[in-house]
Amino acid sequence: MATIDLTRAESLIRTIPDYPEPGVLFRDITPLLADAAALRSCIDAIIEPFAGEFDVVAGIEARGFLLAGAVAIAAEVGLVPIRKAGKLPRPAASVSYALEYGEATIEAHDDIAEGTRVLLVDDVLATGGTLQAAHDLMATLGGVVVGTSVLMELDALGGREVVGDVHTLFHA
Ligand code: PRP
Repeated sequence: MATIDLTRAESLIRTIPDYPEPGVLFRDITPLLADAAALRSCIDAIIEPFAGEFDVVAGIEARGFLLAGAVAIAAEVGLVPIRKAGKLPRPAASVSYALEYGEATIEAHDDIAEGTRVLLVDDVLATGGTLQAAHDLMATLGGVVVGTSVLMELDALGGREVVGDVHTLFHA
């Protein structure tokens, strides 16, 4: 049953050409999110290799939040939001990283105790800059990243070489 739902979940990721700019294939997960069985199977699959091994889930703004909230409830753990710069009132740490054009910064509050076991969750692994920065951010706050899960990995962009071991549900 779960395998069937995951297969359908993958088919529900919509590919939109030339968004947000010409030549880019945008992976739109909103049809998947709108399907209860597909969403549930993805949340379970994101958790499965790390079940019982993490104390909090850290989701990356913005689409990572959509998955991390569901993971937190399903796994019965807390949630740490990793936000883009300027959104948090008292950021305890920030990490900047390179984008294809320019730079981005992510931040988090210091709401985790030293040694807290963290599962990082995001929707897409592309170049890996975001997840690597998130990993560094959690480490700066004393967290121990025990796993990284994404819905989709864009293989050609080589993010796995940057981030290392990642649990990926779907490849494109
Ligand atoms: C997208 C995606 C990942 C990141 C992956 O986020 O949700 O967080 O890019 O790219 P990378 O592996 O090359 O770093 P985006 O910045 O588009 O934010 P959004 O979730 O707010 O749309």
